[in-house]
Amino acid sequence: MRFSRRSRRSTGACRYCRPRSGADRKGHSTQMPSTRAHIVSVGTAVPDRVLTNEDLEKILDTSDEWITTRTGIKRRHVLDKGDPTTASELGARAASRALAGAGLAPGDIDGIICATFTPDYFFPSTACLIGRHLGIHDVCAFDISAACAGFVYGLSLANALVLSGQCAKVLVVGAEIISKTLDWNDRSTAILFGDGAGAVVVAAHEQPDTGILGTYLSSDGRLSDILTMPAWGERRCMTMKGSEVFKHAVRLMGDAVFKALDAAGLDHGAIDLLIPHQANARIISSLAEHFAVPREKVVTNLQEYGNTSSASIPLALQDAFNDGRITGGTLVALTSLGGGLACASAIIRF
Ligand code: UT7
Repeated sequence: MRFSRRSRRSTGACRYCRPRSGADRKGHSTQMPSTRAHIVSVGTAVPDRVLTNEDLEKILDTSDEWITTRTGIKRRHVLDKGDPTTASELGARAASRALAGAGLAPGDIDGIICATFTPDYFFPSTACLIGRHLGIHDVCAFDISAACAGFVYGLSLANALVLSGQCAKVLVVGAEIISKTLDWNDRSTAILFGDGAGAVVVAAHEQPDTGILGTYLSSDGRLSDILTMPAWGERRCMTMKGSEVFKHAVRLMGDAVFKALDAAGLDHGAIDLLIPHQANARIISSLAEHFAVPREKVVTNLQEYGNTSSASIPLALQDAFNDGRITGGTLVALTSLGGGLACASAIIRF
């Protein structure tokens, strides 16, 4: 991807700004040096099968009206029941498209990070398997367990690997086959999720004004019981206290943007595009209001994909590239929250 640069926007103070300093950061913020890690391409993959709200009406005590007004979701892509596609295969498809977009060969990559809560195995890691599918060997490869915050966690770690000189080009992948894990009799979760994968190539560039300018990672294990997916036991399905998660999602994803802006040395007025995790249109509206960002500057595509967990941010990034909302100079804020509760944000200038 090549972009022409345009000038930075002014960053005036506003009533939404709170006093912030490095000292009040509880999570992990990073101050960036002059070489930057850049997102140079995006690739995505979703199953062909589309499950609409009307389809769900036939199997659950629910309605298109309830799903649309409470979540904003209209359809989601899911694997057919007997489809043996794994998260690593879906992730490899997305990664292969990201490689093509960057004009890179598999041998150019020296790191693979995969975020997923639906891995093929406990081990080997899904990242190692993506490497196997693509013919990428002898590289650093590992998975991240941070649920819906996993992709941005991975992006932050890729940034650290690049800045430390350990890697030059890293694939960051979010890949999920959530439909295989759902209790299809539980209307409170079955209507929310979709399958999909998204990947980016993160590479070092000597362009200090662009690239990943700041990241923030955090978690709060005291809230670990409100969103779970047990690894053992009889009932290995997702459980969620939806309204509890909702409340914390608005607060934590909003705070996380401020913290990443702090790390980047920028004010929220500089944000050109907000890309939040795609869990609920009402959460996204609250965030947009919080940052006084007009709706056209907030990427929302959950109506098409549902909540795809770690794949949601790269799927939204891809849409923003496709519709021309990200061009050279665009300042993008990513923010995400998932089981843990885990929270991650990033500020990127393209
Ligand atoms: O990606 C990780 C992060 N996840 C999130 O951020 C999800 C955050 N939470 C949410 O998005 C929302 O809480 C939900 C969409 C999950 C639920 O919306 P809500 O407005 O919080 O609904 P609720 O759970 O409070 O349920 C309200 C009512 C209940 O009925 P009663 O007790 O009032 O009679 C539910 O049984 O809606 C009922 N309900 C449904 N009705 C029709 C729950 N699910 C459905 C359904 N169709 N699918």
